[in-house]
Amino acid sequence: MAAYREFKEVSPNASVGAKTMNWLENRFPTAFDAYRVHMSEYYAPKNFNFWYIFGSLALLVLVIQIVTGIFLVMHYKPDAAKAFESVEYIMRDVPWGWLIRYMHSTGASAFFVVVYLHMFRGLLYGSYRKPRELVWIFGCAIFLALMAEAFMGYLLPWGQMSYWGAQVIVNLFSAIPFIGPDLALLIRGDYVVGDATLNRFFSFHVIAVPLVLLGLVVAHLLALHDVGSNNPDGIEIKGPGKPVDANGNPLDGVPFHPYYTVHDILGVSIFLFIFSAIVFFAPEFGGYFLEYNNFIPADPLKTPAHIAPVWYFTPFYSMLRAITTEMMYVLVACVVLGAGFGVLKGRLPGIVKGIVLVAAVVGIALMLAIDAKFWGVVVMGAAVVILFFLPWLDHSPARSIRYRPDWHKWVYAVFVINFVILAYLGVQPPSPIGERVSQVGTLFYFGFFLLMPWWSRLGTPKPVPERVTFAPH
Ligand code: HEM
Repeated sequence: MAAYREFKEVSPNASVGAKTMNWLENRFPTAFDAYRVHMSEYYAPKNFNFWYIFGSLALLVLVIQIVTGIFLVMHYKPDAAKAFESVEYIMRDVPWGWLIRYMHSTGASAFFVVVYLHMFRGLLYGSYRKPRELVWIFGCAIFLALMAEAFMGYLLPWGQMSYWGAQVIVNLFSAIPFIGPDLALLIRGDYVVGDATLNRFFSFHVIAVPLVLLGLVVAHLLALHDVGSNNPDGIEIKGPGKPVDANGNPLDGVPFHPYYTVHDILGVSIFLFIFSAIVFFAPEFGGYFLEYNNFIPADPLKTPAHIAPVWYFTPFYSMLRAITTEMMYVLVACVVLGAGFGVLKGRLPGIVKGIVLVAAVVGIALMLAIDAKFWGVVVMGAAVVILFFLPWLDHSPARSIRYRPDWHKWVYAVFVINFVILAYLGVQPPSPIGERVSQVGTLFYFGFFLLMPWWSRLGTPKPVPERVTFAPH
């Protein structure tokens, strides 16, 4: 049973505004408590830098997508015979329809730009480490949901790229042994991508995935506010022994409202400048945000010469294409090396060594027996799943990049360059040199994470300060 709360009194001379707020607070105290806990009395570290804007920007883009999405659905027809023309109708005849549509399509790319930068900030400052593992895990789940949302949304305009992109990706599921063909059939609802596929993707895109996404974002923020934000120094501002003021609030923190609400307005303004410039002057963004082939209606009888996903999927698509039969031998060699090292050098109990050995033998047998196409799908999935494990892979004594050995910065720089190269190669048609480079890139990507327990410990960290470094401005 909810605890009884005393009614709060307000002076009879108070303003109408104060009296209204008092009336509301006595009837809905939970909302007022939530405002205090999450805004006016949520103390965030005072040394946030520009990297900390992307969380709020992700929230903004989420709202833009939902609002523009609601208006698009008013005119869009989820029917294979009408979908393409209904989008053209929105673009040409619906008042301001072009603006709503371009905001939504640009918003999709903006979402990924913002989320990639947001995730990279987490990587830089070790924001995923204890006690923020769940904040990170919810974030990774958001990333997965976002990928599903974007993939299904892309089918809706029913252009050539929508159609053939979905065909290629759904067909990948049929590479899974035993259940694959039936699974692909279940996803499509037909033997080829068709009206049934469009209807179910529409349903998932407009309601199922957004609900999951919203729930995950709420969980992400609640978990963050329970443990408190990290900061560029990677040191805690709350907890035993941390300096507090007379009211018990952290000296190295400031209330989120008004300090960071005002601060975020600057970031939001800069973002909206760039966003509007793209929406008004370059909504196709050279074919990267809206692919040119997608201005041609879907034609199941005519495969485009080159099918490429939208840019935000291409690093993972490159990894998929990198797994050729030849590459499988390299991966087998990696498994042999890893298992050999674990058994001969690792400080593991005998039973665990036995399990590692058996798992390696079974793994290699499967790797040689099943088609490389399937392993490509596994690698592509693993490239995302591995992010969930980051909190347990990083063993560096310093949390933030600021206090790690300088060469760690180079490792992160190469990681980013590698990711961008993989993204670039994923847009290009397949070529022998591109294939080689993406194979090396895939090995580096996985090496970065899988060898992290080893390399993150190397080198001497710099002394970590007791208090956050902050220059008043
Ligand atoms: C719809 C997508 C997302 C939204 C709306 C969102 C929102 C936010 C917000 C508002 C914050 C607090 C402000 C900030 O620190 O920037 C935050 C923090 C954080 N987010 Fe997200 N986020 C999203 C996706 C992700 C993803 C994909 C990841 C990682 C895989 C992630 C990991 C984190 C972490 C680790 C923090 C804590 C950062 C720190 O305290 O240093 N988020 N998020």
